[in-house]
Amino acid sequence: MDALIVLLPGDGIGPEVTREAVRVLRAVASLFGHEFRFQEAAIGGAAVDKHGEPLPAETLETCQGADAIFLGAVGGDKWNDTPPHLRPEQGLLALRRELGLFANLRPLRAIPALHDASPLRPERLQGVDFVIVRELTGGVYFGERHEGETRATDLCKYDQHEIERIARMAGEIASGRSKRITSVDKANVLATSRLWRKTVERVMADEFPAVELRHALIDSTAMNLITHPRDFDVILTENMFGDILSDEAAGVVGSLGLLPSASCGAEKPGVFEPVHGSAPDLTGKGIANPYAAILSAALLLDQGLGLQLEAEAVRNAVDSAIGDGVLPLDIVIAEDAQAYSTTETGSTVVERITAPPASTP
Ligand code: NAD
Ligand code: IPM
Ligand code: MN
Repeated sequence: MDALIVLLPGDGIGPEVTREAVRVLRAVASLFGHEFRFQEAAIGGAAVDKHGEPLPAETLETCQGADAIFLGAVGGDKWNDTPPHLRPEQGLLALRRELGLFANLRPLRAIPALHDASPLRPERLQGVDFVIVRELTGGVYFGERHEGETRATDLCKYDQHEIERIARMAGEIASGRSKRITSVDKANVLATSRLWRKTVERVMADEFPAVELRHALIDSTAMNLITHPRDFDVILTENMFGDILSDEAAGVVGSLGLLPSASCGAEKPGVFEPVHGSAPDLTGKGIANPYAAILSAALLLDQGLGLQLEAEAVRNAVDSAIGDGVLPLDIVIAEDAQAYSTTETGSTVVERITAPPASTP
């Protein structure tokens, strides 16, 4: 396959983890005989510094011509005083909106070799495997904003069709898994949540009758995710609740350095991005965990380019490395164990990627 992959390394540890994801993608290309062309473009604070805006027109255009997009991270204290509409984060939000990426999939699995990295007892982690389906282009992130000296407002808005399409996406995903959806809202208070609940219920009843739907409130779900993480399979929720629950989910397994994500819409290209941010506390130290980025590259391969075997090869290499204790500082368990650097971790994954055995005629 010949594919153009646009790279948006961004800020902080973004470029450090993107580098490892690209090494992995190059290794996959050479092993499986693909031609991946990489083109880098500026986004976030790096783009503000270079072009005066967080999503330059040139970057958007480059992205629109891509087969898939990989994003590192954006943001950092350096841009705290930039006018609100020019903040690095606005570049990412504008990219999601411009490309119509209304769904953000954040899969999470507790890995037995990492049970000790989690603050939870191992028996609570046994079998934890769920995916957060986060609505990505609506809600309070994209409503009208007013920022005065003494009063500020952020409008939370959802249209029925925005809820329908993300509910449908969750229905399809649940149909291929255990057919259970927990839809999370705040319907006891918010009008948008009541519309959410009603719409999700109708879409499921009409289009996915075999899927079991459960509604839950965001506050108690935040607790249940920690006390009973195994009870979840597909978590469907709106933009901001999904943002918060996914970092919490990262805490369940031990670190943000492990969580990948895929942002997709009705058409290609999708954006594949770790859930974590630019981690200013780690920047430039060479110790950031690249597994979230590498697993996002695996999502790019199967969800973005339809390359299932290749994605599986990457996930197997990651599992094998983690199983053998190749752990960066954030998930290192034993106090006397050696922590692997970002590059050492990436190199181990690259070394362990193997093509599947040739099929016999
Ligand atoms: P963060 O995700 O950058 O970091 C939170 C904590 O997790 C920190 O302690 C950090 O060291 C740790 N962490 C994150 N990624 C890690 C990794 N790969 N390996 C090891 N540890 C890791 O969140 P924050 O500190 O709240 O935000 C910092 C900046 O990142 C802000 O400007 C924020 O807007 C931005 N941000 C960007 C994205 C994105 O680009 N998708 C996502 C979240 C936050
Ligand atoms: C994420 C990030 C972004 C979000 C920020 C950087 C705009 O936290 O991708 O989870 O809130 O969506
Ligand atoms: Mn987030």
